[in-house]
Amino acid sequence: MAQINPSMLSADFARLAEEAAAVKGADWLHIDVMDNHFVPNLTLGLPVVEALGKATDTPLDCHLMIEDPARWAPAYAEAGAGSVPFHAEAAAAPVRLAREIRAQGARASLALKPATPIEPYEDLLPELDMILVMTVEPGFGGQAFLDIMLPKIRRTRRLIERHGLPLWLQVDGGVSADTIERCAEAGADVFVAGSAVYGAEDPAAAVRALRERAEKAAGRATSG
Ligand code: DX5
Ligand code: ZN
Repeated sequence: MAQINPSMLSADFARLAEEAAAVKGADWLHIDVMDNHFVPNLTLGLPVVEALGKATDTPLDCHLMIEDPARWAPAYAEAGAGSVPFHAEAAAAPVRLAREIRAQGARASLALKPATPIEPYEDLLPELDMILVMTVEPGFGGQAFLDIMLPKIRRTRRLIERHGLPLWLQVDGGVSADTIERCAEAGADVFVAGSAVYGAEDPAAAVRALRERAEKAAGRATSG
């Protein structure tokens, strides 16, 4: 079952609760936390996530694009984030961090920038609930999807299957009606979409249309 996570980076930050309600039916709300150090952009932090969590029933997927995620990630889980992807490039001790996130009751996820391979993290898979393969360089919404990431999505899906683990595989960046099928065929099952959802006239309908495309493509991939 394909999951669609609208990225609120493309929502109106002055109306976050209404924008969360505008994507009713979404599986998760994807919240991009940026610190202007790990990425050259600054968004929002813990107080906003806490407030938003109280204003919506949709679970929060807090993508931490920050230096020193160990300092902050457990607090996001404690604040009510159901899923906390942190970046491999920024985590000094990813196993310890994943265990801390899980101990707070959240799903622990490892995020990989385009130039970071999955293979060095193979032995860590049992400690994780999801791998996030970035399909743009993190930092901004509305960038073009990087087709060159499709082989990494396929390799990641194969590794997960080889280990027989229930990990989800998320893609983030440039995911739209034009690109979601390629991602689903390659093995992704959780799709972040910012501009493709909030740029649409009816964001909730965009979520449904994306899910339908992803599910059809995944069906084709498994039957053929
Ligand atoms: C980029 C963020 C993404 C971004 C995606 O660094 O991690 O979540 O909001 O936006 P779109 O879907 O517009 O590429
Ligand atoms: Zn993101």
